[in-house]
Amino acid sequence: MSSPMVPLLALLASTFVLAANASNVTCSGTGMNWYTNFVGESPCRTYERLRQICNPAFQVGVMRTNTPPDVCDEQLADCCCNSIAFALAMLCLNCQQNIGTSSGYDAGNFVHDHVVHA
Ligand SMILES: *[C@@H]1O[C@H](CO)[C@@H](O)[C@H](O)[C@H]1NC(C)=O
Repeated sequence: MSSPMVPLLALLASTFVLAANASNVTCSGTGMNWYTNFVGESPCRTYERLRQICNPAFQVGVMRTNTPPDVCDEQLADCCCNSIAFALAMLCLNCQQNIGTSSGYDAGNFVHDHVVHA
């Protein structure tokens, strides 16, 4: 005798995993842990909050792997058209793609100097 609950639970569990992976502000690996541990949130979340100063509805999308990683098409461009927003978008790209700080799209030193120690 098999319980009808088992497939239902399996379905719920897999839906939850898919939903958890779908967030664009969650890092896909541990490469950005230095940032997340230090700042207390992922670089994508910092980037999102920065952009939300100008556009409260802004949500982080999937960063593009050819730079610039994100478009700045706001009416009020002050929040995305600056070097800190660019560096955060680069870190967010690293976070989504799970690339470490010393390889790939490296804006880590810039943000470390200008944001973390600001
Ligand atoms: C992630 O961003 C893409 C667009 O780049 C969007 O279609 C998708 O809905 C976003 N996912 C979440 C969970 O916000």
